[in-house]
Amino acid sequence: MKTDPNFNCMSVINGYAGGHRHMITTGRILAAVSAFMALVPFYDLWQIIRIAVMGEDPAGIASIAWTAVAWTVGSLLVYIGALMCTHIAAFRVQASMRSTLMRRIMTLPLGVFDEDGTGKIRRTVNDSTAATETFIAHNLPDKSVAAATPIGLAALLLIFDWRIGLICVIPALIGFGFLMTMMGKGMQEKMAEYQNALDTMSSEATEYVRGIPVVKVFGQSVHSFTRFKNAIDGYSKWATDYTIMLRPKMAAFMTCINAVFAFIVLTAYLFSGGGMTPELILNIMYYIIVTPLFTVTLTKIAYSGEQEMVVEYALKRIDSILSVEPLKTAEKNETPADNSVELTNVCYRYTGASSDAVHDLSLHINAGEHVAFVGPSGGGKTTTAELIARFFDVTEGSIKIGGADIRNIPQDELMKQVSFVFQDSKLLKLSILENVRLGRPSATEAEVLDALEKAQCGDIIEKLPDGINTVIGTKGVYLSGGEQQRISIARAILKNAPVIILDEATAFADPDNETKVQAALEVLAKGKTLIMIAHRLSTVKNADCIYVMQNGTVTESGTHDELMERGSVYSQMFEEYTRSVNWKVGA
Ligand SMILES: Nc1ncnc2c1ncn2[C@@H]1O[C@H](COP(=O)(O)OP(=O)(O)OP(=O)(O)O)[C@@H](O)[C@H]1O
Ligand SMILES: [Mg+2]
Repeated sequence: MKTDPNFNCMSVINGYAGGHRHMITTGRILAAVSAFMALVPFYDLWQIIRIAVMGEDPAGIASIAWTAVAWTVGSLLVYIGALMCTHIAAFRVQASMRSTLMRRIMTLPLGVFDEDGTGKIRRTVNDSTAATETFIAHNLPDKSVAAATPIGLAALLLIFDWRIGLICVIPALIGFGFLMTMMGKGMQEKMAEYQNALDTMSSEATEYVRGIPVVKVFGQSVHSFTRFKNAIDGYSKWATDYTIMLRPKMAAFMTCINAVFAFIVLTAYLFSGGGMTPELILNIMYYIIVTPLFTVTLTKIAYSGEQEMVVEYALKRIDSILSVEPLKTAEKNETPADNSVELTNVCYRYTGASSDAVHDLSLHINAGEHVAFVGPSGGGKTTTAELIARFFDVTEGSIKIGGADIRNIPQDELMKQVSFVFQDSKLLKLSILENVRLGRPSATEAEVLDALEKAQCGDIIEKLPDGINTVIGTKGVYLSGGEQQRISIARAILKNAPVIILDEATAFADPDNETKVQAALEVLAKGKTLIMIAHRLSTVKNADCIYVMQNGTVTESGTHDELMERGSVYSQMFEEYTRSVNWKVGA
């Protein structure tokens, strides 16, 4: 992560702020004004010291002190005003960013939302917009303060005795110079490395936590997660190297900053040739108080660049989502004539992949036919199924439902045509009723109950504390894989789409569950075109056609009997499958 000279954070932020951008400018100006106001009491302080040193009438001290208090309170009030402006703008920007993102996310190909993608999108919508909000609400006014304060302080230091002022400012400026060499280009690269090291460590840590059951079950130690260990070692090495690299410059910086007092004493000695005058004592005392403030503010400025990098990174992450190409909208609208599915020379390659996941695939499924995709892992079954539901667009070739190219079927119409029951059923943290109703939002409660019954979910509902109103994932309500699958099937039954795609719908089911899932699927698939992906070959025996997919294309097809007779890959797979099932039973 490093600041990109071609990337202007403020113009991006102003774009989102719309009419509220003036609030940001007003907030920044008010913050600078408050910084100047906060310095006025230092002038009062000088006056008080003068009264003390010169032996003037102390009666005036009280009124000077009150003036100082008034300026301080005034400065605080102006600063609060500044924060109000920047907060209003920040909330507006955050809301506008989130709604822009959400609107865009709705148009993205569904394939973008695989497991990693969802996490990244969630982090961007939550964290990156929150980082931008903090930057506008707090960092921008602070930056104004950090810029205004040294100007005001420098003026204060030079007003009373410019010679002492100058001498005090010199070491601070030299120190600041050292600091800037630490913060320069090299520092930006270091910050990028730091962020990378942190990112790697955090994702490896997540991976590690996910893998804890495996680690425990197999009696391994943390060292079996070499990547996690390497990430920690990498970070530790980075931190050590970084500290060693900064040591001389940091030492020089600290020496300069602290040398200020030595310089003041030196000045006092140089200028006191004719003996210490009260004015000289007054000014020296004053400078001893004010100079450290000057160095502290300079240090703050040097570190404020870091925030800029954080927000730039956040804005780029937001941009990376907005730049994902949405699915093209149809040029002409077509309506499917029936429930047949036809793939013609379909190719699909995942972004960044070196070969096609699906290659030159052609097949025709008649309306109402039940077909199965089987084959080795990575053969392209899920990809093909997702292409049919238009999770992403084919790279080459075409897919038609009922004679209409799916790219020409409006998205909501296509979603009505196709139901997809996922490999891992996607249940949301909602009540069972609401989860099932996602299949058809207008459905009545009676219809939902009917769908649940058809999907063999009676036993699940019975054991839940609030029946269909029980919220999944709360108060210890968790469903087993097979149970979740039956609920998703109920959702698909309610949706009643004419084309149904099942990806490994029986994968998690135990024998008892499997029978129920099978029964539920029979109700669901009745009279529909069914495309089923299965590893359990017993479930595909009755299919009208079985397609064996290997390396992204269909290598064999036919009914179970035909394929068995042919003595091909399928027959081998089936024999192996039967053996493994028998082995399990016998074991
Ligand atoms: N999101 C992705 N990005 C890049 N490549 C992918 C992605 N998803 C799948 N692939 C690749 O595409 C190929 C086909 O994968 P696919 O998931 O379609 O296989 P599958 O037949 O469903 O396998 P399984 O039986 O294990 O579910 C594989 O080589 C896989 O590595
Ligand atoms: Mg799959």
